[in-house]
Amino acid sequence: MSRFLLLFGFALNALIGLSLANEPAWGYRCEHSNCKKVELTEENKKTAVSLSVCRLFCDEVYGTLWPKPTGEIAPSNEVVKINLHDITFKTNNFKLYPAYWAMATDRFLEMQKKKFPTKYSVKSGGNPLVIEVLVDSDDMTFNLDTYEGYKLKIVDQDGVHAIVTAKNFYGARNALESLSQLIVYDNIRNEIVIVSSTEFSDEPKFKYRAILLDTSRNYFSIEAIKRTIEGMAMVKLNTFHWHITDSQSFPMVVKSHPDLSKLGAYSPDKIYTAEDIKDVVRFAKARGIRVLPEFDAPAHVGEGWQKKGLTTCFNAQPWKDFCVEAPCGQLAVHKDELYDVLEDIYREMVENFEYPDLFHMGGDEVSVSCWNSSADLQKWMLNKNWGLTDKDFMRLWGHFQSNAISRLDKVNINKTQVILWTSHLTEEPFLSQYLNNERYIIQIWTTGDDPKVKTILEKGYKMIVSNYDALYFDCGFGAWVTDGNNWCSPYIGWQKVYDNRMENIAGNYVNQVYGAAAALWSEQVDEFALDAKLWPRASALAERLWSDPEGGWKSAESRMLVNRRRLVDIAGIAAERLQPEWCLQNEGDCPI
Ligand SMILES: *[C@@H]1O[C@H](CO)[C@@H](O)[C@H](O)[C@H]1NC(C)=O
Ligand SMILES: *[C@@H]1O[C@H](CO)[C@@H](O)[C@H](O)[C@H]1NC(C)=O
Repeated sequence: MSRFLLLFGFALNALIGLSLANEPAWGYRCEHSNCKKVELTEENKKTAVSLSVCRLFCDEVYGTLWPKPTGEIAPSNEVVKINLHDITFKTNNFKLYPAYWAMATDRFLEMQKKKFPTKYSVKSGGNPLVIEVLVDSDDMTFNLDTYEGYKLKIVDQDGVHAIVTAKNFYGARNALESLSQLIVYDNIRNEIVIVSSTEFSDEPKFKYRAILLDTSRNYFSIEAIKRTIEGMAMVKLNTFHWHITDSQSFPMVVKSHPDLSKLGAYSPDKIYTAEDIKDVVRFAKARGIRVLPEFDAPAHVGEGWQKKGLTTCFNAQPWKDFCVEAPCGQLAVHKDELYDVLEDIYREMVENFEYPDLFHMGGDEVSVSCWNSSADLQKWMLNKNWGLTDKDFMRLWGHFQSNAISRLDKVNINKTQVILWTSHLTEEPFLSQYLNNERYIIQIWTTGDDPKVKTILEKGYKMIVSNYDALYFDCGFGAWVTDGNNWCSPYIGWQKVYDNRMENIAGNYVNQVYGAAAALWSEQVDEFALDAKLWPRASALAERLWSDPEGGWKSAESRMLVNRRRLVDIAGIAAERLQPEWCLQNEGDCPI
């Protein structure tokens, strides 16, 4: 496309109403795909371009889009002013679930209002915007077969028309997200403008695009969780992986076993009720996001289970002999009563998470020495004529897994695939012996170059990638059980997240990779530092998975800065600053 802005469809009457003090001193010009500052004068003011408008056009794609669309883009270099009081929606469908569509359209309108700086009032005048949405189906099912793509066309004819075609709600919603990114505030004219004509189609490269949040090591309010989901929607991430319980606390209320959260929550207010969970699930669904429940077992349990007599090595000391961090705890998987309790937990979880299409059973960091410290458990194994070797304990784990999954199937109307973390059990020979590759998806958290990854793929398992050397966002801060830095230091910059390609990890097996998840384990974070640890690095993952661009982080850098600012301005997310603001205003002058 042309590297220069030639035409501007501005309504030129817009300059009135600005006091001198508010008038910007600088405009921008696109030179060699960088926006360059130009001092504004009386002469050039009428045709001058603001930074946001310059950024829109001065790139290989529209420089405000994140993630980058995967289809061919019909470029344009014109904008027109739109009237925020005159945006209307027309649709042929959404009759079965009008509430979700209403949430999506209300949200779109709210997002546009936030583009206007609060110190100015929204100015009247400008073109009406009509958003026409054509979808094939009203079905709100969301699973790994759901098509999330869309087509977006913008034409300027008797007002501005944005025409969205999609298979379903989710595609339509994604189109609104992109449309919103083509609407920017022009601070020179103090008005909201939209790209006046364009057309492109867009669909994700990977089906599963996730953030994991651990709400057990530290508690996060529903408000903080919703703010995270809002950010995810803006970059088309589609899975909120809720690691809801662990050894340290049990915040999830289970009505049939109230002792779990009564004893296990950090305090009576640090809980998630059924209503809280359902509220999050609906909030997420309206934003094209599944909420994936994880009930981590048989390790990573502890607090809350005190009255049940169904754990081994709970809070054993010195903890490092029995587990990887305090407090230790593992389920007493030899006891039949355990499975009745698990069934109750699963039943309430699948109801509250509205019959999710996937279920995560955890399964990481099982400690043989923890189980082996229980005389009762040892006796049970010996009575079965098993030994007490490592192999026998893997058989015990296999016993747990097959009982647990049959209890889940009993209560889940949709027999779902189950996700497990990589562990000793996902190594051969145990992997093939105990885990059926049609039932289990393996989520890897070893390094991306670990040869174990290839073994799992060769055996035909589907995979979700969370290699800790690129996708563990808790890495790189001070340690908490010793001095020095935490275990997976150093800090992972957004560039490394962006360049973490699935192909490099899975090679020829990349079609077995559903996608990836960035994990925020919460030993050292609560909601007050949440945003800066997740954002904008999670955006880097989002583009890697949606667009999977050929280029590396450098070619995405200027769009990343625009994206970061949008997260702040529109979602109120306290995203980390990547550079001095000077670099945003002097594009290309910072990186070397
Ligand atoms: C669950 O099963 C029902 C009945 O077969 C189906 O209509 C629904 O779409 C399924 N849900 C998901 C998430 O796949
Ligand atoms: C479990 O403990 C017994 C002693 O009680 C020991 O003989 C056995 O080697 C232990 N098993 C493992 C795998 O460490």
